[in-house]
Amino acid sequence: MARITAGVGCSHVPAIGVAMDTGITDQPYWKPVFDGFRKSREWMKANKPDVIFLVYNDHCTAFDASCIPTFALGAAAEFQPADEGWGPRPVPVVKNHQKLASHIAQSLVLDEFDMTIMNEMEVDHGLTVPLSVMFGEVAPEEAWPCLVVPLAVNVVQYPAPTGNRCYNLGKAVRRAVESYDEDLDVMIFGTGGMSHQLQYKRAGLINPEWDNAFLDRLTSDPVGLSRMPHVEYLREAGSEGVEMVMWHVMRGALEDDVVEVHRHYHVPASNTAVGHIILENKSYHDGRMIAAE
Ligand code: DHB
Ligand code: FE
Repeated sequence: MARITAGVGCSHVPAIGVAMDTGITDQPYWKPVFDGFRKSREWMKANKPDVIFLVYNDHCTAFDASCIPTFALGAAAEFQPADEGWGPRPVPVVKNHQKLASHIAQSLVLDEFDMTIMNEMEVDHGLTVPLSVMFGEVAPEEAWPCLVVPLAVNVVQYPAPTGNRCYNLGKAVRRAVESYDEDLDVMIFGTGGMSHQLQYKRAGLINPEWDNAFLDRLTSDPVGLSRMPHVEYLREAGSEGVEMVMWHVMRGALEDDVVEVHRHYHVPASNTAVGHIILENKSYHDGRMIAAE
């Protein structure tokens, strides 16, 4: 049986990818951003999953106003890094676990979560930057250390799905993974955020108190947190802060009891508050502790 081991929450700021791709991560502006991911990269090596189920948002790259799927599941064999204006990022092609993706598609739809199925899709910084920060630099001719099943969530064109819908989708993702008949360790990423607004009068908005309360409540009050209305994201975390609804898919897919093993928060990276958390499922964490004794 496949199982979900842990969840990762992580920002996706495009400039973080540029800093890695141009080799300037040691510069004073960037060093504190990347120092906070040092432990995460060690943890990824020690807990390497077979597959990452990666919840992210597309930024008018694969989709535009002509087609706005709320939830789009990647079923293609592979996903090329997209050209977002300066050429594709120099990172490997993202390879899917197609059989698992097909199983999840079937399980979700029969569980009444209707997915758009993507048999062709390029992926932008929303997906590749979280992989880069968690794995470190990987040359384009190499391979990412594990397979990736992408789930794109619309948070760009109103209406985005509610946090509650995302949380319940996470529960359905867990049922789908746990009904897959192959021993696989699956990690789930919820990406985007934290507070940021890229446009108009409040451009540059950052709200560290709100962000840190959000990180606290992922462990202490995930259900209450998932019921937060959209208007609170817009008011407190800025117009792009609504990307945070994607973290509820991650949290919903985990057990009720989780152990926070790492947290990193840094302002600013470009216009955004970088937030990052690693939550291990309690059963996985306890198994790890016993094995280490
Ligand atoms: C920035 C942040 C984002 O989430 C994004 O999609 C694009 C840009 C930024 O801070 O520059
Ligand atoms: Fe974004």
